[in-house]
Amino acid sequence: MAARALADTVLDTAIVPGPRRSDELRTVLLTGASGFLGAYLVHELVNRLGVRVWCVVRATGPVAAQRRVEAALRRHRLWSETTMRNVGAVPGDLTAPRLGLTAADYQRLAETTDAIVHNGARVNHAEPYERLRAANVTGTVEILRFACRSATIPVHFVSTTSVAARQDTPVREIVPGLPGNADGYVLGKWVAEVLMTQAAARGLPVLIHRPDRICGAAATGATGTDDAFWTIIRAIARLGVAPAIADVAISLVPADYVASAIAHTVGQHPRIGARAPVHHLVNHTSITLEAVLDRLRANGFPVEIVAPENFVVELSRAARTDMGMARALILSQMTGPGTSEWDDTTTRRALSGSGITCPPMTADLIDRHLDHLTEIGFLPNPAA
Ligand SMILES: NC(=O)c1ccc[n+]([C@@H]2O[C@H](COP(=O)([O-])OP(=O)(O)OC[C@H]3O[C@@H](n4cnc5c(N)ncnc54)[C@H](OP(=O)(O)O)[C@@H]3O)[C@@H](O)[C@H]2O)c1
Repeated sequence: MAARALADTVLDTAIVPGPRRSDELRTVLLTGASGFLGAYLVHELVNRLGVRVWCVVRATGPVAAQRRVEAALRRHRLWSETTMRNVGAVPGDLTAPRLGLTAADYQRLAETTDAIVHNGARVNHAEPYERLRAANVTGTVEILRFACRSATIPVHFVSTTSVAARQDTPVREIVPGLPGNADGYVLGKWVAEVLMTQAAARGLPVLIHRPDRICGAAATGATGTDDAFWTIIRAIARLGVAPAIADVAISLVPADYVASAIAHTVGQHPRIGARAPVHHLVNHTSITLEAVLDRLRANGFPVEIVAPENFVVELSRAARTDMGMARALILSQMTGPGTSEWDDTTTRRALSGSGITCPPMTADLIDRHLDHLTEIGFLPNPAA
């Protein structure tokens, strides 16, 4: 796996940026707009920067592509007619040559795009590198090829803190060497970061954004439901039991902070340089797992603490008939890299004066998420 990943870190020599068209920022190309963070990015890019956003989305045609973006915005309570007026969508696929775009779409977008936010990825910590490679590595190469196609288009790449997570902290905002013990997803993101730095060394303006685990907006709690943390919380809420484990600190980064920080730097347009800056988008505050369980109880979900082996027995029983519980069972057996301390000096410098700051982890933020997840039926209704 690591050997294949290392072999993938050599960027095609044909990918060389040409001259910059202009410093104007009217049109942004976004990948992953049908997903969780993508919806927040659409919202922030349109409303913060006043640009038109073109979304490359897997779909059978342009109408279906547009509908998928609309659905993502509605799902995260971000839809408005005004926003949608500045959003266009084209069918595409990161795993395909030319991003799966028609020749006409590819040409038109290459000629009119002023910045790219490459956020799309197959996000799955359980899949091997080989299965994720087409979307997460080849897709990134295709984005870089597109960025150098007719004029130089600055690229903002959405990576993850998992690429650099370490215990000997604080973790600096640089691209590290091959991460040890990385799963296929993290390895793919690391390869993509290395490819980004090579493109930057050839003169392409590149910025790497590394969010930590993302939650919904602090005000609405409108989060994605594929996330490991909420999958485990759902299992606890449904079973009414939680394992007796050492208390851990939970840090989540609200999606509106992540998206507005990225949009703000897109507005600043990275200058051409031989280095790809890295921005850590992290929350320096945390809440204990014990406090999260208290919020569950306060919101009407009784939670009893049981021995870890009894929790696994209960979860295994529920997993026979519920895919979400099966996923929670797999996730409960996985060990993460532990907590790191993140240096975000470069990020804070870039955001200074913008008024964009990360909201703290509070009981209220957890409550908003529990309300939202109950409303959409992800969590059982405690009153029922
Ligand atoms: N969520 C987090 O906690 C977190 C933390 C750190 C970094 N990130 C990064 O943030 C980005 C967005 O993550 P997310 O949580 O929003 O994930 P998500 O909800 O799963 O969204 C992923 C997006 O990528 C698209 N995509 C996947 N494969 C594709 C393909 N072959 N062609 C075109 N589009 C494809 C998906 O499209 P479909 O709808 O067609 O599947 C979807 O729009 C990712 O790059 C991820 O690595 C996320």
